[in-house]
Amino acid sequence: MVGTPFKTIEWTADGIEILDQQKLPTQVKYLLCKDAKCVIDAIKTMMIRGAPAIGVAAAMGLALGARQIQASTRERFLQRFEDLCNQFAASRPTAINLFWAIQRMKAIAHSEPFPFLKEALKSEALKIWHEDIEINHAIGNHGKRLIPPKANILTHCNAGALATGGFGTALGVIYAAFEEGKDIRVFVDETRPVLQGARLTTWELKQHGIPVILIADNMAGMLMKDKKIDLVIVGADRIARNGDTANKIGTYSVAVLAHYHNIPFYVAAPISTFDRNTSSGTEIPIEYRDENEILYCGKRRIAPRGIRAFNPAFDVTPAALITGIITERGIISNPNTHTIEKIF
Ligand code: MRU
Repeated sequence: MVGTPFKTIEWTADGIEILDQQKLPTQVKYLLCKDAKCVIDAIKTMMIRGAPAIGVAAAMGLALGARQIQASTRERFLQRFEDLCNQFAASRPTAINLFWAIQRMKAIAHSEPFPFLKEALKSEALKIWHEDIEINHAIGNHGKRLIPPKANILTHCNAGALATGGFGTALGVIYAAFEEGKDIRVFVDETRPVLQGARLTTWELKQHGIPVILIADNMAGMLMKDKKIDLVIVGADRIARNGDTANKIGTYSVAVLAHYHNIPFYVAAPISTFDRNTSSGTEIPIEYRDENEILYCGKRRIAPRGIRAFNPAFDVTPAALITGIITERGIISNPNTHTIEKIF
């Protein structure tokens, strides 16, 4: 089984270590969080990002924060813990894994005996983390059969080890297929404006020795027309009951292009990314980020002063454009309310 040559996040005796993704690829630096606020800030500023990784970070952050709560009764503890949960819930709105992880931690806080709560919360956070890595391997094993022996794959954003507890979802499928000896080349969309593709996915694939070609986001159509792309695989931040999928801004455009050119378009995501309370993509909350992410490229301003920018961080791809959703329980072909419900 392929290991990940770096740790995205780790629980240590001194606190939570987070690989600072804002500094990649030029610097590989870990941030040591000794309290929950540090973890919340790391999520908000995208030092850690990617739906499953945000869930793992929130679970660990809650366990760390719970340790620092001084309360003599269960009621007082729960009040303070609830407040902490609300702060994590307000960090980023789109990735459902964040709210899913908070719910799991809350369930422990409400069920375990008071004297053992802090230890139980730590165990649950570690469980969420380890489960996530196993789930990614299962997604990889299911998904690898979709990859032909020789394949040019397009991916958008980063859905790899950096975006999860480890290994990755969309990139996990690629790693599993590569491990089997398949001849793979990955075209990576740079993914403006935060450049997760250019900065993170290329870095990650290089660590695994997988051939990578970086492209600007507006080049995918030409490559598809020239028959240079065999399939597309992306991750997901939230999947509605009918299969509509929120993922990094630009995913929808890639899906439309793939549909037009008759190229399979796959989403790889754990079951925890499904939001069964949301019937379709129109109900998924979309995060809007600071306009400076668009107005600047690094430290350099690229638009004249006085120009405003529009910066939605995610878009929704309708289920009709998705060939299949690869989960740890198997592949949902032609996702819709009926085919998705069957997997639960
Ligand atoms: O804004 P980000 O970098 O957190 O967005 C990440 C994505 O859109 C990923 O594709 C998604 O979370 C899936 S990660 C396995």
